[in-house]
Amino acid sequence: MYYCFGCKKAGNIYNFLQTLRGFSFPESVEYLAKKAGIAIPEQSHFKKNENQEKKNKKQWMYRVNAFASEFFHKYLRSLAANDPRVQYLAKRGLSPETIKTFKIGIAPDSWDSLLIEMQKNQVPLKLANEIGLIKQKEKGGFYDIYRNRLMFPIYSHMGDCIGFGGRTLGDDKAKYINSPDSEIFHKGNILYGLNETAKFIRTTDQVILVEGYMDFMALYSAGIKNVVAVLGTALTPQHAKLIKRYTKNIVVLFDGDASGKLAAERSLPILLSEDLLPKIVVVPQGQDPDDYIRNHGNESFLDLLQTARDLLLFIFHDQFKGYTGQPTEKVQILQTISPSLKLISDKSLLRLYVEEIADTLRQKPSWVYEFLQTHQAQASVSKSPKKLTQVSHKSVIENKGLIDLSRVPNAELYLVNLALMREKFLSQLTDEEVLKQFSSQEVRSLLNKLQGSYRQKTNDFDKLTALMANEVVPSSSITQHLDRSWSQMDEVALEKFFNDCLKKVQEAHLKNLQKSLKEKMRSSDASQRQQHLEQFMNIQKTRQALNNTKDSN
Ligand code: GTP
Ligand code: MN
Repeated sequence: MYYCFGCKKAGNIYNFLQTLRGFSFPESVEYLAKKAGIAIPEQSHFKKNENQEKKNKKQWMYRVNAFASEFFHKYLRSLAANDPRVQYLAKRGLSPETIKTFKIGIAPDSWDSLLIEMQKNQVPLKLANEIGLIKQKEKGGFYDIYRNRLMFPIYSHMGDCIGFGGRTLGDDKAKYINSPDSEIFHKGNILYGLNETAKFIRTTDQVILVEGYMDFMALYSAGIKNVVAVLGTALTPQHAKLIKRYTKNIVVLFDGDASGKLAAERSLPILLSEDLLPKIVVVPQGQDPDDYIRNHGNESFLDLLQTARDLLLFIFHDQFKGYTGQPTEKVQILQTISPSLKLISDKSLLRLYVEEIADTLRQKPSWVYEFLQTHQAQASVSKSPKKLTQVSHKSVIENKGLIDLSRVPNAELYLVNLALMREKFLSQLTDEEVLKQFSSQEVRSLLNKLQGSYRQKTNDFDKLTALMANEVVPSSSITQHLDRSWSQMDEVALEKFFNDCLKKVQEAHLKNLQKSLKEKMRSSDASQRQQHLEQFMNIQKTRQALNNTKDSN
């Protein structure tokens, strides 16, 4: 039993973990059983063996990761104090305690140190390969993926070691290597550090969200321990759900550059959908939080944190550059913010926002309310999962006027993402001849919509993604391009990617035309058949031409 004299909460070991660590009941049971070495009997149904096997495999993967993390950590601790790598860690402010708490390690500068150690200990190499610790050579055998890197083991909120982030200690082009997605690792639903910081988040009833490992470490070392980091991806709805288990109060702490701002803007609807109360702190002048703490010290950083501002209002006020108070400007500003406003279920909170917004625009609150009601077309994602279970997925989407991208071919989705990256791609794709080749009606209407919004407000190309994220499901399908791997492509690579995807779409379109011609031929008379056949052959030629250009690229 437990009883807290501070908050007067009481209960048993299960709801202790539920309260303290945000576990669900089954998770508490599983966690405790593991600690106590008790096997939990599986429910007996016909899929039992398959489930058991899957679970076993996962357990083995955790073990392999734990082995590797132990290896990296031991290696770091074996290094002499004057080793440049140890000195680098000190220079970056990683204290011995922090290193110990997060089991930080170093991957030796070698192609096979981990490999040899794993072989010695009969670690199943196939699994190590699957979770991205080693890679198969063409001529057989394996080599280490992480070489000469600072290693951050990544734990699930349940405390299993599910992957790694490795920062180069040399001048490798890939600054970070993260574990690939696997059965146990999905970067879209992991928050780095949560397993350790959950208790601080709980007790302060607030979480600070940062973008990188080093920012996380800097805050933690500065004594601000209610912190988590996203792993180089955009914030996802799963992240928000996970956060909500611990607290409603979130402060996003993003870099003061344009991409940091965009990331904050994009996270707003995601956070509001989960009824979270987001605030923002902008780190000045292109620094990240880590830089800031190093340059200005802890005290100054704590002051900076005190300047946290309401995220919704921050984004609202951010749109007033060049504002002269004209009616069209007011409408545009409200259009941008209204999808987010509609996500707020707390009526009294909504009223506060509306009053502030109305005041700033020199209008009556009733004008804002009216705007929200009459602009139903700009509908937003439902925030109530309960309602979702009562009505089918599809009809919810239709009712809300959302664009469903869940069944769109990959090439078409990639093109949408590319269109959101570069104006030239958007305008190429919205050419009528090109547009009609898309198989997905949803993508066609989305591209039209994008072009429309963009024309209205030419200077705000960068905001299109944030704007559209509320109008499509899943919203992650149009935020792929914000991933590092995309933004790091140079112009040549982007152009090639664009052309390849476009060819795929054209190819599929032509194939489809041929298919319908074939069907027509079956039921047509001789002369018509001749015509159809000719058309068919023409398409065939076009397809060949298309394939040839593909090879010459
Ligand atoms: P330092 O440069 O050591 O201060 O690290 P940082 O964390 O400040 O790096 P940065 O601001 O460049 O990136 C922020 C986060 O994005 C990192 O912590 C990683 O999670 C991720 N990231 C950065 N570069 C890469 C990369 O090359 N590959 C991948 N997969 N992720 C990256
Ligand atoms: Mn940094």
